[in-house]
Amino acid sequence: MNSTASQSLPRSRRIIIWSRYCSAISTSRARADGDTLSPVQEAFIEAGAFQCGYCTPGFLLMATQLLDENPDPDDDAIRHYLSGNLCRCAAYPEIINAVKIAARKRKGATAPA
Ligand code: FES
Repeated sequence: MNSTASQSLPRSRRIIIWSRYCSAISTSRARADGDTLSPVQEAFIEAGAFQCGYCTPGFLLMATQLLDENPDPDDDAIRHYLSGNLCRCAAYPEIINAVKIAARKRKGATAPA
């Protein structure tokens, strides 16, 4: 919805739409459980998948979404899914490795005992 269209709605309707939009927004920090890192966050640390860190939150969110949709992506699937995120530090090999580590961690975390 563009801003012109949203301005034509009553204020109460705009607030409802905005609150629904905001509830769908996630952050990399929100993905952690208190002080416990998510498997994706742990994997990025283990793989050294960041240098300056500017792009890291975006990669964490996209990697999490990728693994939600495809729990066992191959390298091509990871590259394709993350192709919209740019890392000027060229940490791509480490990022791909981190996603694979996260996939293994998530499988282990959800595997039946
Ligand atoms: S870690 Fe530097 S831009 Fe991604």
